[in-house]
Amino acid sequence: MSCASDPRFPAALEWHGGPEGYVEMIDQTRLPLIESQLRIDGLDQMIDAIRRLAVRGAPAIGIAAAYGLVIGTREGIEAGATLREAFERSEAALRASRPTAVNLGWALDRMRSRMNRETSANLDALHAEALAIHREDRALCRAIGEAGATLIPEGGRMLTHCNAGALATGGIGTALALCYVARERGRHFEVFADETRPLLQGARLTAWELQRQNIPVTVLCDGAAASLMRDGGIDLVVTGADRITARGDVANKIGTYGLALLACAHGIPFYVAAPSSTFDLELVTGAEIPIEERAHEEILEPFGARIAPPGIGAYAPAFDVTPAELISGLITERGLLRNPEEASVRRHLA
Ligand code: MRU
Repeated sequence: MSCASDPRFPAALEWHGGPEGYVEMIDQTRLPLIESQLRIDGLDQMIDAIRRLAVRGAPAIGIAAAYGLVIGTREGIEAGATLREAFERSEAALRASRPTAVNLGWALDRMRSRMNRETSANLDALHAEALAIHREDRALCRAIGEAGATLIPEGGRMLTHCNAGALATGGIGTALALCYVARERGRHFEVFADETRPLLQGARLTAWELQRQNIPVTVLCDGAAASLMRDGGIDLVVTGADRITARGDVANKIGTYGLALLACAHGIPFYVAAPSSTFDLELVTGAEIPIEERAHEEILEPFGARIAPPGIGAYAPAFDVTPAELISGLITERGLLRNPEEASVRRHLA
């Protein structure tokens, strides 16, 4: 059984077949110039795909990890391990693949609960749980879009950062879900996509996705947001998130914090769209979120072309943290939570 997706949108990844099946995913490192699929039927392949961002975006990483756990457990059993031994080994390896997006650990925890609930744990149950995680994410994305679409005014100009669209999730995205639902409702607006250094997820992926949906999109270099806002060119900012703490601090792609400061300075609302699986209520402040450091070559030698002199170091965090005070509202599948703070975040998710 596969987990059929909406054919109008690119499916970041799909499972094919039963528990003995495989994952097919768009290789996001090659977009937009080359649209190619990777076939993943080994645990190491899945970990490699997650690490090098062939699959990326917090919800999609969670789904990939769940499928990876099915594949890794199956491999381990074939090599003579018990299901539980194979599960444990695969789970530990997947958990270490990327540290910031909490959806990864959330999906693995959910797979473990499913295994523990079964009287005799089996691969069918793990496979069913992974499909359920994928299917539910699709519904969460749609609900986020429905909850936030009215925030985009007719004729509005929305700025977004990185890619928080279909490519980053199991459905129509988080930040971009607002655009897709607003468009379905007949609203006209345009999107400005930050290029999003160092790996250009905005220029490569967000622009590609929105263009396919005929939504007007303009790419701007990350440094241009300040003057565009000052000149009255932006009405709202909407980004996704990789982890949100109990007080509403948000880790997202590096550069998001700067955008939030700029939006505040120019009186522009700044929203974050994310499913409940992106919240980590065990952490209170953003200072507790582990921030992934990426390879320095991604900055000094992007896409294989050296741009900095040899022997130079780089500062390469993949994410930064935006404090709740700078966030006008969190948009989840449960609705819009304005001016988040700890009590209201906990109530919203209870
Ligand atoms: O390093 P990436 O490309 O996985 O970073 C992704 C982001 O920061 C996204 O904006 C975030 O995960 C939201 S995805 C709906």
